[in-house]
Amino acid sequence: MATFILLSALAALGTAAPVGTASTATAPAYPTPTMSPNFRLVANVTSCDVELGIQNWALTSYHIGAGEAVAVFTSNDTAGRAFYVGGTPVDVDNGTAQIFSDGGTPPFPEGFVIPSANETDGEGRRTVQINTGNGTPGVAIADPYSVPILTYDDVADANDFGGWYACNTTLPYGPAIALYYQSRGGATPSGCADLTLLPQWYAHPIFT
Ligand SMILES: *[C@@H]1O[C@H](CO)[C@@H](O)[C@H](O)[C@H]1NC(C)=O
Ligand SMILES: *[C@@H]1O[C@H](CO)[C@@H](O)[C@H](O)[C@H]1NC(C)=O
Ligand SMILES: *[C@@H]1O[C@H](CO)[C@@H](O)[C@H](O)[C@H]1NC(C)=O
Ligand SMILES: *[C@@H]1O[C@H](CO)[C@@H](O)[C@H](O)[C@H]1NC(C)=O
Ligand SMILES: *[C@@H]1O[C@H](CO)[C@@H](O)[C@H](O)[C@H]1NC(C)=O
Repeated sequence: MATFILLSALAALGTAAPVGTASTATAPAYPTPTMSPNFRLVANVTSCDVELGIQNWALTSYHIGAGEAVAVFTSNDTAGRAFYVGGTPVDVDNGTAQIFSDGGTPPFPEGFVIPSANETDGEGRRTVQINTGNGTPGVAIADPYSVPILTYDDVADANDFGGWYACNTTLPYGPAIALYYQSRGGATPSGCADLTLLPQWYAHPIFT
């Protein structure tokens, strides 16, 4: 099991312990820090048979219906959505936290959703969505390779993380490059690119 991390919120939790008290003292029940570290999810292409040209592109959403959007990549650095980890520290430790991104007017949490293996598109792909409401538990930032990446504690596959890939697709308003999940041992369709998703800090003033 990978070590789940909550990015900078971990440091905030660490400083919540009282300083200089005896070890027998009861720690005060501090409220959970409200600071929500926002990050973009950026593509790092690890293999492909045909270049899609999405290295370093950020994940955003493509609206397809009420409260429903497909996760797609954009080259526009300021259009990438801001994600955050949602859940208690127990959820995070247990690998059952979710990833959210606020969207809509007024902004409302939208969850990062991985369809189950039986919920595929016409080409057998599991299209990642960013939908109003909850996300899929177990999607988290973890560091199995020492660099933090987005992983999924895939309960339907022995809690193992499979992988992400991106493909050209056609959505209602036109062509897009969408994100898909596959369990371990899956075959990436031709013309698609395997990738990891790297959390990167937003340095834009909209999050001050
Ligand atoms: C990013 O992609 C490069 C090239 O495929 C690969 O060598 C590297 O391991 C990847 N890094 C991560 C964190 O996925
Ligand atoms: C990039 O996205 C921003 C919204 O974050 C938008 O205002 C801007 O027009 C976009 N730029 C291009 C070149 O599409
Ligand atoms: C921990 O995760 C498992 C599933 O992996 C779940 O059944 C259990 O309820 C979770 N425990 C807590 C305390 O959230
Ligand atoms: C799809 O699989 C999930 C479990 O992964 C199950 O709960 C659900 O009922 C299945 N749906 C259909 C239509 O078979
Ligand atoms: C993906 O689609 C674009 C046009 O939207 C096209 O130029 C490109 O060749 C396609 N790439 C692959 C690998 O299909």
